[in-house]
Amino acid sequence: MKNKVYIFDTTLRDGEQALHASLSVEQKVRIARQLSRLNVDVIEAGFPISSPGDFDSVKSIAETVQGPAICGLARTIEKDIVACGKALKNGKRSRIHTFIGTSAIHAEKKLRKTEDEILDIARTSVKLARKYTDDVEFSPEDAGRTGPDFLCRIVEAAINAGATTVNIPDTVGYTTPEQFAAVFDDLFNRVPNIDKAIISAHCHDDLGMATANSLTAVAHGARQVECTINGLGERAGNAALEEIVMALKVRKDFFKVSSGVNTKEITRTSRLVRDICNMPVQPNKAIVGTNAFSHSSGIHQDGVLKAKKTYEIMTPRSIGLKENRMNLTSRSGSHMVKNRLISLGYSESEIEMKSFYERFIGLADKKGTVYDDDLITLMEAKSSDEMKDSYSMEYLHVSSGKVVIPTATVRIKHEGKVFQEAGCGDGAVAATTTAIDRIVGYNIKIEEFHLDSITEGREALGKVKIIGKTRDGFFTGNGASTDIVEASAIAYMDVVNKIARIRKFGKKSKLK
Ligand code: KIV
Ligand code: ZN
Repeated sequence: MKNKVYIFDTTLRDGEQALHASLSVEQKVRIARQLSRLNVDVIEAGFPISSPGDFDSVKSIAETVQGPAICGLARTIEKDIVACGKALKNGKRSRIHTFIGTSAIHAEKKLRKTEDEILDIARTSVKLARKYTDDVEFSPEDAGRTGPDFLCRIVEAAINAGATTVNIPDTVGYTTPEQFAAVFDDLFNRVPNIDKAIISAHCHDDLGMATANSLTAVAHGARQVECTINGLGERAGNAALEEIVMALKVRKDFFKVSSGVNTKEITRTSRLVRDICNMPVQPNKAIVGTNAFSHSSGIHQDGVLKAKKTYEIMTPRSIGLKENRMNLTSRSGSHMVKNRLISLGYSESEIEMKSFYERFIGLADKKGTVYDDDLITLMEAKSSDEMKDSYSMEYLHVSSGKVVIPTATVRIKHEGKVFQEAGCGDGAVAATTTAIDRIVGYNIKIEEFHLDSITEGREALGKVKIIGKTRDGFFTGNGASTDIVEASAIAYMDVVNKIARIRKFGKKSKLK
């Protein structure tokens, strides 16, 4: 199928190399199962010779994960290839991927071998790998910096020896798209047996060109792309699978090829990899960043409300997200704010937009993001008194540690009186919220608790968001401090004050 681009996922091999702690066999199997749901063509599950854990992971994945071909990596060394063959033995579809450095710097400094010696080793290794499986991939490592003549020679030799896929890695992310295009053009023009194998691209992101280089390779004949979820990988990472797959889908008019990936599984896969690997995704990351489908500017929000295509080139649903997100901030226009009020159940006649919008901007200037329950409070408040907090925290002391039961003491001022209580809990935050609950007497169930660091380093500012539920509905509270327990207490007090407001002024929450 000339118009199909095979997706080779190397999250569990090149991606895993970049993690501080290696993944367990169970964690790798969970990711591999999700990659199979995503419908990638090949999963590079690990490097079996590198450790017993990696061997077991490749073996378990080969034995239990159905669908994609399962691949193991091997240097062009006999024991590596034998280990790969053993790990993959019980798999339904197995691939061995063997590689050797071919650039002058790799040949001279790392391998201390001549080009002819490298050529021989490549040939022998591909032949050995073919004894274990019909599906063998060969990579001339650092192809991006390999001389064109030697690259053509080694690609031809590997195909003659039985390689069914030849991968062209830009190992150090050095090549520009124009140069990478020339590498592929050269191979397709000069290697006589090039049509006997699938030619693949494997790009690293050291100069931020991994996706561009991979897509350029596809435009110049590559029919396999090697990539990772969230662009995880050595140093600056590998080409991001989600970017490549969505670029091929959204710009099919240009590339005229497709992958078989089920794009609706992209978000789920990205979040699973993020959580298991403990590697956060930057908010503005293409496709899977939390802001990738959020609109903040008033002009953009207005445009999207009129016609989504004004500022959206793909739908959130196409990557498995339910809907786009409109952040309500001081930059949001009145059209957007009104629309949100209507979606919260207010009728057009209830909304006096001019004065409401002024109050909205005042609140947004103070708070940054305005949440749905803030909007309701603002809508229902008849006087500025109603917007004032009725509980304020005057004092917080927490003791916690390895051998102590976490205990918190809080002092809260309410209607001119000061109340003090202590509470214990499983941790410092639980102790604090217990002490606050004792004073305010609300039965708050914490539905969600999110902690993010806003800045870097030891003095990082921690930002906490809490969603609390009571009989009155759901309430979102936010808090920030360099002390995460204090940030949690502030967020919890924000929830408390929202509930107090609703109860005092007898308003019913429109939030479901
Ligand atoms: O970047 C690289 O060259 C690799 C090879 C093993 C293909 O990861
Ligand atoms: Zn790599």
